[in-house]
Amino acid sequence: MTVTYHQADATFHLHNAQISYVLGVMPNGQLGQIYFGPRIHDREGLADLIESPMSYDPAEPDAGQMDQARQEYPSFGTGDMRTPAFTVVQPSGSHVTNFTYQGHVITPGKPRLAGLPATYVEDDSEATTLAITLHDAVIDATLMLQYTIYENRPVITRSARFAASATPLTVTRAASLALDLPDQDYELTTLTGAWARERAVTTRAIVPGIAAIQSLRGHSSAQFNPAMILRRPHTTEDSGAAIGFALVYSGNFQGLVDADTMGHARVVMGIHPDHFAWRLDLDGALQTPEVVMVYSDRGLNAMSQAFHDLFAHRLARGPYRDAPRPILLNNWEATYFDFDEAKLLGIAETAKKVGVELFVLDDGWFGERHDDTLGLGDWQANRTKLPGGIKGLADKITAMDLKFGLWFEPEMVNPNSDLFRAHPDWVLRTPDRVASVGRHQYVLDFSKPEVVDALYAQMSAILGGAKVSYVKWDMNRSLTEVFSQGTAPERQGSVYHRFILGVYALYERLIQAFPHVLFESCAGGGSRFDAGMLYYAPQGWASDDTDAVARQKIQYGTSMIYPLSSIGSHVSAVPNHQLGA
Ligand code: GLA
Repeated sequence: MTVTYHQADATFHLHNAQISYVLGVMPNGQLGQIYFGPRIHDREGLADLIESPMSYDPAEPDAGQMDQARQEYPSFGTGDMRTPAFTVVQPSGSHVTNFTYQGHVITPGKPRLAGLPATYVEDDSEATTLAITLHDAVIDATLMLQYTIYENRPVITRSARFAASATPLTVTRAASLALDLPDQDYELTTLTGAWARERAVTTRAIVPGIAAIQSLRGHSSAQFNPAMILRRPHTTEDSGAAIGFALVYSGNFQGLVDADTMGHARVVMGIHPDHFAWRLDLDGALQTPEVVMVYSDRGLNAMSQAFHDLFAHRLARGPYRDAPRPILLNNWEATYFDFDEAKLLGIAETAKKVGVELFVLDDGWFGERHDDTLGLGDWQANRTKLPGGIKGLADKITAMDLKFGLWFEPEMVNPNSDLFRAHPDWVLRTPDRVASVGRHQYVLDFSKPEVVDALYAQMSAILGGAKVSYVKWDMNRSLTEVFSQGTAPERQGSVYHRFILGVYALYERLIQAFPHVLFESCAGGGSRFDAGMLYYAPQGWASDDTDAVARQKIQYGTSMIYPLSSIGSHVSAVPNHQLGA
């Protein structure tokens, strides 16, 4: 058993040969954080590890104590003035809560998170899960915190779940984790960038104040990858302590370190609270995404290795998880939109001669897609370019003993497309306001099940009708004017999250229907390269920048967290098309 419950002082000890994580019930009934670090021996009295256990008088609680208490999933409003993990707004308008310990269950294995990507086990002996239920008696609401410790990895995963409620409770903030650390002698390393220079390693000192990364773009972004590393100032690649946090989520997020003026540090990470409001009565239970925490006392290298091994083998799925990935040729920079079947077959023939295994047809094969102003959303082959359709081309390519792959951008639509003309209300836009285009396209409203169904119907017809063994799933603009047309006002606050749940749902349906297909995620290069995507697509387009020198930095930064098997790598023309160098 790797989770031990000590009843005498109500502490939980998650431990394996490498790490320990200790939490307990505080005198006020809420959960406190006690220890996270190298493995310590299990014993009674672990609560003593905290310097000043909280005293508590239920009749007259001392507000000042909460501001110093090391908490597990803190709220705001009863004395803790730091960044909270969650906020639940009640019918009265109050946001004050008191979630106290109600019970817990320790089970072997690791349950799946409904509708969300998550790390998993193949055998229950690989991990142990602790689920703690907390209850607020005044609003009769339940909160479940879930922790999994893997048997042979320095890894703990966490998530939270707010139960559905008949009361109109609105969750306006629901982090996946908060972690109160006893000191703030750390540096924060994050992966920051932009298009064509994704995931550069960026390090800053932690000083009193809040250091944050975020995305409000509707996708995890090239600007700030949803991962953070706290490292001691002396930590190197091979020595010293480092704690890594990776959010298994692809939408809006925030990760922050709130360093107070008393020498403590609180880490909070999860869905971004801005523009987020989840009505438990209307939207159902709220399951937060998972955060993976890795502890290393052997430097950044050991931390990266722990992430790599977990993500490559217990996050990625499908037949390609453990198989060598095919060497592919992608026609995009060779032809852009200017191709016909003969030209593609010529390229494929040359590719075959130099050992390429998979020919990928990129943008431009469908509808009236002659340039990037039109055709997105119309996923039927253009018969002028491809007289035999996708089946005809795929048959010819596979006859050359090459596999065949195809580009899609399922979440998008050009205003100039049959799909948009038929369903103008299927795009995210705020009524009576101008809708911004990005690369001449609108974003489809994937928070609507009928939109996801329609894309599934189009894509499955193509994938089922031809020998397609690879899909490059692109996503080329950020979300703006986010509003779901025809959806109730009280549910607009959940649209960003339900959009990404819709993306996950479409991925899952396609994976189940076409398990042999290798999916590669892409977003204008590497703008959605995150652990969430890895659950569906075992590899990602790291960047549109394929310049060999520039690319080294991108590969290096990406490899801080993500396994090498997940990082697409390119050989391309010199001078490079994107940099001109
Ligand atoms: C994005 C991708 C490219 C290519 C184009 C096609 O920019 O990152 O690799 O697929 O779209 O339009």
